Amino acid sequence: MDQHQYMLEMIDIDKSFPGVHALDRAQFKLRPGTIHSLMGENGAGKSTLMKCLFGIYKKDSGTIRIDGKEVDFANPKHALDNGVAMVHQELNQVLHRNVMENVWLGRLPLKKYGLVDSKLMFAETMETFRDLEINISPTAIIGTLSVSQRQMVEIAKAVSYHAKILVLDEPTSSLTEKEVDHLFRIIRKLTVQGVGIIYISHRMDEILRISDDITVMRDGQWIATKPANELDTNELIRLMVNRDLTHRFPGKTNKPDGTMMSVSHLSGKYEPTFHDVSFTLRKGEILGVAGLMGSRRTELLNTIFGVFTKESGEIEVDGKVIDITSPEMAKRNGFALITEERRATGLFPLMNIYFNTIIANIGKYGKVILSQRKIASDTQSSIQSLKVKTASAKTAIRSLSGGNQQKVIIGRWLLTKPEILLLDEPTRGIDVGAKFEIYQLIINLANEGKGIVMVSSEMPELLGICDRILVMSNGRLAGIVERGKDFGGVAGEQEHILKLAGTYI
Ligand SMILES: Nc1ncnc2c1ncn2[C@@H]1O[C@H](COP(=O)(O)OP(=O)(O)OP(=O)(O)O)[C@@H](O)[C@H]1O
Ligand SMILES: [Mg+2]
Repeated sequence: MDQHQYMLEMIDIDKSFPGVHALDRAQFKLRPGTIHSLMGENGAGKSTLMKCLFGIYKKDSGTIRIDGKEVDFANPKHALDNGVAMVHQELNQVLHRNVMENVWLGRLPLKKYGLVDSKLMFAETMETFRDLEINISPTAIIGTLSVSQRQMVEIAKAVSYHAKILVLDEPTSSLTEKEVDHLFRIIRKLTVQGVGIIYISHRMDEILRISDDITVMRDGQWIATKPANELDTNELIRLMVNRDLTHRFPGKTNKPDGTMMSVSHLSGKYEPTFHDVSFTLRKGEILGVAGLMGSRRTELLNTIFGVFTKESGEIEVDGKVIDITSPEMAKRNGFALITEERRATGLFPLMNIYFNTIIANIGKYGKVILSQRKIASDTQSSIQSLKVKTASAKTAIRSLSGGNQQKVIIGRWLLTKPEILLLDEPTRGIDVGAKFEIYQLIINLANEGKGIVMVSSEMPELLGICDRILVMSNGRLAGIVERGKDFGGVAGEQEHILKLAGTYI
């Protein structure tokens, strides 16, 4: 093939960190005006490869060419100046600054005397947002936006550089289906102008829908590059994990029995919120919560856990009314909450895995002198049972891949031995193999008689492991779908859930 067929070539890229050979002669080639997805399990090296392109990491060896010319960007600014932009897996925004300042960070337009030209900044931000049909005020403070809005701001920022190569590292992890469609319209429009898109995601159906080409990596190595229309889910999974994963869900063995919690007429306090939600949770039950983004599912979990104040309603556990007014109290009553934005809200990025594993539980290791042996053995078993990919337990958590950071946090909460687990999007950003492990873990916990409430936006996983599914719509409980009843099979259940959630308008 003629090499100018490619706008970007990454050849034999090697990169090691202490104890980790993150990239092992990795390959990647991008055709102009195409969407090329990069896939692989957590820790496969996807983000590292893109950070080598973008000048965040210095590659140890290998060649990068853009339009046939060798490049080696010293830093992100250098990459941006040369037409490469990247949306990061982690949102690195300045929370107390407003939207337009975040969009223009590092290149603030100046007036005479060095004053920032806010008018110009506002106008240009508005124009970019209008082009992209984004409905967010340029003067809103970033910290007050939802995660999905923040993600859209990051995408708009990257687009505003008018780059010819745009890297999107898991841009849709917190977007709703409608927002994903919106994003896809944006990036398709860009490809028509010749922009090449590198797209990283763990959402298989999305990848197959949007990509022209797909490259799969495993253990830092290039495994395959194929046109998307020659691949299907099974083949992709096989390439990624190097084994057939015939079942995406473990067999369900839990037997729900006897009410352990009942929630009656619960309403949140501060509008907009949820209203009059009633349901029960049985011992050993996996109760799903479906709904569109904004249906107040996260708020419901947070209110049960005492993070938010309730306006009215009652929560009964084992027949006793309990009034939970703080997360501390919820913990004492046997609850654990794994938040949807684990990496932003649950992580101590500068600390190592030991610390991040035991922090929810610190009392258990001795009040004054922490038992190092116990910490080490708990951390080790948590790393093993969740298959966290890391050089050692002493590794700083921020150097783990995104998905592996999440596993550490899930492991931390499991160590608190909760009776009732509230899980908010427990497998977001986690690869297929690890998802299976997490499902198995959830089922095992249910087998032990724990109750699990699980919010998820992934319909297959709700249908794959839940016993019943609550459907929220606009802050109301729209219905409860009892599995295996009334709807004539899984497809019927899915349709019913979508209807209740208000997907069909
Ligand atoms: N700064 C760093 N220091 C040490 N190790 C690192 C660093 N960055 C990445 N690694 C390691 O390199 C390997 C590849 O990580 P990378 O983040 O590229 O994975 P990924 O494919 O993006 O995974 P995910 O799907 O979970 O985001 C992992 O083992 C990770 O722990
Ligand atoms: Mg990554």
